[in-house]
Amino acid sequence: MNTEIKIAKDCIDECASRILRGELVVFPTETVYGLGADAYNECAVNKIFVAKGRPQDNPLIVHISDIDEVKDIAVDIPDSFYTLAEKFMPGPLTVILKKSDKIPYCVTAGGETVGVRMPDNVYARELIRKSHPLAAPSANRSKHISPTTAAHVYEDLKGEVPVIMDGGDCRVGIESTVLDLTADVPTILRPGAVTADMLLDIVGKVSVNGKVIKVAKAPGMKYTHYAPVVETVCATSIDSAVAEYDKAASQNKRPVIVARDIYRDKVGERNQISLGITAQDYTHNIYNALHIAEKEYGYIIIEELHGAGLEASVMNRVEKAAGGKRV
Ligand code: TXA
Ligand code: MG
Repeated sequence: MNTEIKIAKDCIDECASRILRGELVVFPTETVYGLGADAYNECAVNKIFVAKGRPQDNPLIVHISDIDEVKDIAVDIPDSFYTLAEKFMPGPLTVILKKSDKIPYCVTAGGETVGVRMPDNVYARELIRKSHPLAAPSANRSKHISPTTAAHVYEDLKGEVPVIMDGGDCRVGIESTVLDLTADVPTILRPGAVTADMLLDIVGKVSVNGKVIKVAKAPGMKYTHYAPVVETVCATSIDSAVAEYDKAASQNKRPVIVARDIYRDKVGERNQISLGITAQDYTHNIYNALHIAEKEYGYIIIEELHGAGLEASVMNRVEKAAGGKRV
């Protein structure tokens, strides 16, 4: 199959008809790019698992263009969903609800719950409005780094999908927060840019993704994820990053330090990929930095961020990229 990258705003009608014909389309969102299929079409949804090499036991998020559409996707919707939606939708929040009969079990990996999200990207929402709600995971090969540009998607999925809608780079840069509203206490299954503190304001009580029993409910979380193809470690301080770099360089491992600009002086002449200045910059840039690093270097050393909120969310991805390895 030939894969074409097209400017998002120019191909919405074409992509909407492709979706309704049961084809896959890659679309931009504010978090990462999504690999979409008609959420009501079982055969189309199955193509996602084949294209990504994704295990069938990992459920997909359903993307909607309007809050009212949630009634087609889910049943027994609690009031807290609507309160959350008012504040965070469209935006980087996925809410787990009880699934409706309209959603095939291949979307939910056989489960009775479904993830619902309204992306904050006009082209994505226009595409959904003109077709159907889209079941979509991140548009990368299973276990590889999530894509934040159309070029990242092309490298991973060329030949697997007819069209990639190019909407520029993704504003947030890491995947949405996943919040389970079917649990006794609303539970964060995956941290993201909508943080526990922000959610607490609305739902009063949140169980944070620290306890193993909660983590296991997002089946995708048990796989090594977001991983570059070369060895990657997380450095707890810039001094340990520099020491690790020098050791790796002496072993000809072709290392690179992925860190914020404040450490330019400490890193000196060593190879560095910049993550910008703020925690927002760090989050926005991290996946692109890893895409570049794995192509150009042999060993990736990532600066750890300390702190709660967005810092903790992005560290969740860095730890996965490093497979838990710290220096
Ligand atoms: O930002 C995002 O969420 C992106 C964009 C494309 O929307 N999507 C994304 O999808 O990251 P994916 O499939 O790569 O990750 C979805 C995560 C997985 O860990 C999956 O196990 C979990 O959400 N998930 C989906 N549906 C679930 C459900 N019904 N119950 C528990 N976890 C669920
Ligand atoms: Mg993913």
